[in-house]
Amino acid sequence: MIKKIFIKTYGCQMNEYDSDQISNLMGKMDSYQSTDQVEDADLVVLNTCSIREKAEDKVYGQLGRLRELKNKKPSMKIAVGGCVASQEGENIIKRAPYVDLVFGPQTLHKIPSLLKENERVGSAQIDISFPAIEKFDQLPQAKSNGPSSYVSIMEGCSKYCSFCVVPYTRGEEVSRPAEDIIEEILRLTQQGVIELNLLGQNVNAYRYKDKKGFEYDFAELINLISEIDEINRIRFTTSHPNEMNDTLIECFQNNHKLANFIHLPIQSGSDRILSAMKRNYLYLEYKQIIKKLKAASPNILISSDFIVGFPGETDQDHQQTIKAIKEIDFDYSYSFLYSARPGTPASYLKDSTNEEIKKNRLQEIQNLINEQGKNHTHALMNSEQRVLIDEKVDEITFKGKTDNNRIVEIKTKQDILNQMVKVKVTKTTNRRISGELI
Ligand code: SAH
Ligand code: F3S
Repeated sequence: MIKKIFIKTYGCQMNEYDSDQISNLMGKMDSYQSTDQVEDADLVVLNTCSIREKAEDKVYGQLGRLRELKNKKPSMKIAVGGCVASQEGENIIKRAPYVDLVFGPQTLHKIPSLLKENERVGSAQIDISFPAIEKFDQLPQAKSNGPSSYVSIMEGCSKYCSFCVVPYTRGEEVSRPAEDIIEEILRLTQQGVIELNLLGQNVNAYRYKDKKGFEYDFAELINLISEIDEINRIRFTTSHPNEMNDTLIECFQNNHKLANFIHLPIQSGSDRILSAMKRNYLYLEYKQIIKKLKAASPNILISSDFIVGFPGETDQDHQQTIKAIKEIDFDYSYSFLYSARPGTPASYLKDSTNEEIKKNRLQEIQNLINEQGKNHTHALMNSEQRVLIDEKVDEITFKGKTDNNRIVEIKTKQDILNQMVKVKVTKTTNRRISGELI
């Protein structure tokens, strides 16, 4: 009988990438087939996120529901991976004794052996260690499911912002060898991939020295990758302001495969808060980077992360963030209320701002950025955009994305599915546009 695996993914793109790897691995090693019906699963994997408290609560809520399923079907195995697993370890088994496996972001390649051991001895198995970069050597070859693919190029973070759990849950920055990355990309191109999204918690902290002693930084890696003819467009996420060197900024001018868009987390526009967050830059320094990026590529759009209501954030700090949003003219945001994370330095800071005020600040930030985003969309009218078509809606309707993440609808009799096309924008609404093939 073919066994079935159900994977639920929480949080960031890294986790999405890891979940694809898990499904690929279990398919190859133990012939598991993916299912989206949790009741049918022999193995349920929760790939968890602990970036904010709410994300973590969801995991324990889901585990409660799985317990009932497992009561009805005792052969079902439950595995918990990702950042909650990494942070909580054995505590997961204490809180949810029906869980069979706990693995971390760096040990997902061990699921098959942990599962065997669990079956042999009948007790829960835990491995949340950080064995450098070995997981990449042990995972099966990459598989794509469309014209665009994620490729993880580095893992972890060594920045230790005062509010953030990532350095503790995912470990310090480790870069993959450039040769391995190129090999993975070549394999993906054989499966029709023409767009890459290079992933890392701090993707532009990429550093690698090859056997001949040549040192690659992130810009050099991008330039190397763009020599692969089949690759038409390159994106990356998430980058850190302190790793935006001039060669990387020049890529936006000289390397036409690079998408004309960047996600660059700012977190706050107030130097006082940035310093308490240990971000290690001033607002003016951030602004300077953006100025250079806009000089290198005048139509570039910028998205960002914001934390609202960091301990001690005053109305004046908030006004500085509002000013920054207008000056930088951000296009999009991932903005959330600050959430105290156990064990982080910021979790010891006193905070007296009331929740209502914080929620209003968040709303103000989101409304402002939404408006700016709409204006950017309208400004695309009649422009020429590069669009990767990844969906065929019906015989003559296709959908795809521009460099700056607008969803485009195109009507044409040609079959353009999975192709990169040039489009003239004929209609704009909010974050969507329509266009015609050029
Ligand atoms: N490496 C990225 C961020 C990764 S975490 C960087 O350069 O900053 C993704 C986002 O989650 C962060 O940018 C931050 O905005 C948010 N975040 C992290 N810890 C948080 C916390 N304790 N409360 C609220 N938001 C948080
Ligand atoms: Fe977190 Fe700061 Fe790193 S937000 S992922 S510690 S750059």
